[in-house]
Amino acid sequence: MTKEVILTGIRSNAELTLGNYLGAVLPMVQLQKEKHESYDLHFFIPDLHSFTTPVDHSTLYAQTIDHIRTFAAAGFDLNNKSTKIYRQSFIPAHSELFTILNNFAYMGELSRMTQFKDKSEQADTVSSGLFTYPVLMAADILLYGASWVPLGDDQKQHLELTRDLALRFNNKFGDTFVVPHEWNKQLAFSHRDSGVRIRSLSNPTKKMSKSVDDPRGTILLSDTPEEAAKKIMSATTDDLAEIDFDFEKRPGVSNLLQIESLLTDQTVDQVLASWKGKSNYGDLKTAVAKSVSDFLKSYQEKLSQISSEIVEAKLADDEEFLNDQTTNLLLQVQKSVGLRR
Ligand code: TYM
Repeated sequence: MTKEVILTGIRSNAELTLGNYLGAVLPMVQLQKEKHESYDLHFFIPDLHSFTTPVDHSTLYAQTIDHIRTFAAAGFDLNNKSTKIYRQSFIPAHSELFTILNNFAYMGELSRMTQFKDKSEQADTVSSGLFTYPVLMAADILLYGASWVPLGDDQKQHLELTRDLALRFNNKFGDTFVVPHEWNKQLAFSHRDSGVRIRSLSNPTKKMSKSVDDPRGTILLSDTPEEAAKKIMSATTDDLAEIDFDFEKRPGVSNLLQIESLLTDQTVDQVLASWKGKSNYGDLKTAVAKSVSDFLKSYQEKLSQISSEIVEAKLADDEEFLNDQTTNLLLQVQKSVGLRR
């Protein structure tokens, strides 16, 4: 029997943030530990997605390798037999499936994507790459028949679009794609009751983002532990003077509680038990600053021990294997749409 596939990707357009780490890296590491015996795992870098937001092309290649080193430093086992690690642009079937699927996606649904709306508002010019980005993402997922796609909260709509495209295609041409599970099931699979969205420390109504220029609000994994602690100490809170978890009324404080819970491997309720009702935000910030700087020290120490050569060797092996494997599904799609006999 073929195993179900768990798949996720992380763009290498910019340095990784604490948001990426807590929203995407850690869940994938946990899933690998827990599920590698009964599932196939795919972790990839969607490098063709890099240009949808501003990028330094001269560092892109190296940054891709560094992102994979980050996963290894977080505890991801690169040698695990059930885990494939690869770059999107090294497997041309992603782009071919994307070209085909583009004809089944509608302008209206793509215009409604909040990521598109947010990012296009911030940009001087809007590329068609940014607009069709979710279709390429759908191709990434459908190409490998992934059922489980652990993602941060900001990607929920893209997962829903992937499901819609798969169902639309299957209805027209017969069962072709595995339809990934719906959002709530995805959360339960990763033991979450709500999506993770780490907020900017300076503007906690917005997510912490690597593609937005917000140095005070964003903790980069390359920040020194001292810099990161300072950012936490100057995080925006509110004037309610009462600690509680409520993203509507207290987004800044809730963000700190969420960061603390994920870094210390506790539920938010467990963290809240020691803080609820207290009024001194400074004490909470001091505790979170310590957790963040302890985490960065240990993470950066581990990262320094992971060589790029090991990563490149794993990529070369897996990309060769997958280039072979993806031809089957692509051929089936090409036949369905009348491109092949
Ligand atoms: P990207 O690179 O923007 O983000 C990678 C992952 O990090 C999560 N994330 C966050 N989680 C919590 N709090 C935050 N502040 C935060 N910022 C980012 C994202 O939800 C994501 O899980 N479209 C994807 C890349 C992609 C992909 C795919 C993912 C392309 N194809 C196929 C899965 C499957 C993206 O832009 O991620």
